[in-house]
Amino acid sequence: MNNLLNKKILLIICGGISAYKSLELIRSFKKKGAQIKTILTNSAKQFVTPLSVTSLSQEKVYDDLFSLENESKMDHISLSRWSDVILVAPATANTIAKLSSGSSDDLASTVMLASDKNIFLAPAMNVRMWEHRSTKENITKLKNYGFSLIGPEVGDMACGEFGEGKMSEPEKIIEKIEDYFVSLSKNKKFKALVTAGPTREYIDPVRFITNKSSGKQGYELAKSLSKKGFQTTLISGPTNLEVEKNINFIEVETADQMFKETQKNLPADVAIFSAAVADFKVQKQQTEKIKKEDYLNLGLEKNIDILNYISNHNSLRPKLVIGFAAETIDLENNSKKKLIDKNCDWIIANDVSNKSIGFNSDFNEVTIFYKNKNMKEEKLSLKRKSEISDEIVDRVLDQLN
Ligand code: PMT
Repeated sequence: MNNLLNKKILLIICGGISAYKSLELIRSFKKKGAQIKTILTNSAKQFVTPLSVTSLSQEKVYDDLFSLENESKMDHISLSRWSDVILVAPATANTIAKLSSGSSDDLASTVMLASDKNIFLAPAMNVRMWEHRSTKENITKLKNYGFSLIGPEVGDMACGEFGEGKMSEPEKIIEKIEDYFVSLSKNKKFKALVTAGPTREYIDPVRFITNKSSGKQGYELAKSLSKKGFQTTLISGPTNLEVEKNINFIEVETADQMFKETQKNLPADVAIFSAAVADFKVQKQQTEKIKKEDYLNLGLEKNIDILNYISNHNSLRPKLVIGFAAETIDLENNSKKKLIDKNCDWIIANDVSNKSIGFNSDFNEVTIFYKNKNMKEEKLSLKRKSEISDEIVDRVLDQLN
């Protein structure tokens, strides 16, 4: 089967002696039916010419950030949006350093900084550069950001030295990209449901009870699942966040609406309940705005516990039910109690007394408690919510497979 047919690959060529191998890459990708757009960095043009790249890819070569921005059809965002995957080959020490520091001073780095696609790096550099501590730290950082590495290999270098730093051969790079698309299509059989954000429980038409949830953790989880090929539904309370177009997005306001939509969108293989659902709603919501001088009595009643209902419902229960626990004290005991009481397979606990993680932060630090492993716990140390989500989804895949 041809796994690359019609796949859209954005190839970024940086300035290194192995840039000549990128021409072979383009030729082979084209032969397998892939579409290729190419960005050349300034130094790449010292090694390969735009003319040879255009001839092989049969596409315009992109190289200048500023002339590009004048074009309405294909700006740096559109280039990333167009692609199914981004491949940097060769990825030089300089480009790796720029990516790890978030610098965006040319088209290649700007496109990658603005991209939410999977980015593969095929590093190529002298062995001492590869082994330098700063490169090692940059690579660790990029791996944590979700970049994938292909190579480098050990061998004789153009500079006469021997060691690790050679760019992988085009066949190996193509095989890795093919593997990626194969695993994506394998995972397409999996359905995932994520709840996210806060709920609003109305008192009257303009006032409501809510909480501090921004939805960031849940949206990142949905993004990671979708990136790995899952058919993903995200049911979210009100947030200011953008949703990727591949995700089936359902916006709700109240816990009752979230409950209804959750039932409607099951069964699934995995459900992750990251929403901060309000525990209470107002018994009698006023249809007109309450006046200041009116007597205000907020009679509250308990909302349905969506997670608890689903995890105890035979025909709706996904194979893997994952709850979150937002705790301010005694994280371990409270989370383990929720794991049992709510009949989850895993509980992901975050300490929301720490203001720099949890609610509304871009970062989180979580502990996963696994029921099937005798409540064994696993800590995912402080990192971006996007990275935490990628790590959680890797574990979900291990479990489902
Ligand atoms: O949205 P962010 O700003 O990114 O913040 C992320 C987060 C802190 C909200 C998230 O990481 C998190 O911890 N979400 C769960 C918050 C919460 O309500 O925890 P809880 O301990 O009260 O609830 C336990 C579990 O039951 C959760 O999975 C919750 O979704 C679920 N639940 C709770 C009440 C209810 N009525 N229905 C539910 O499904």
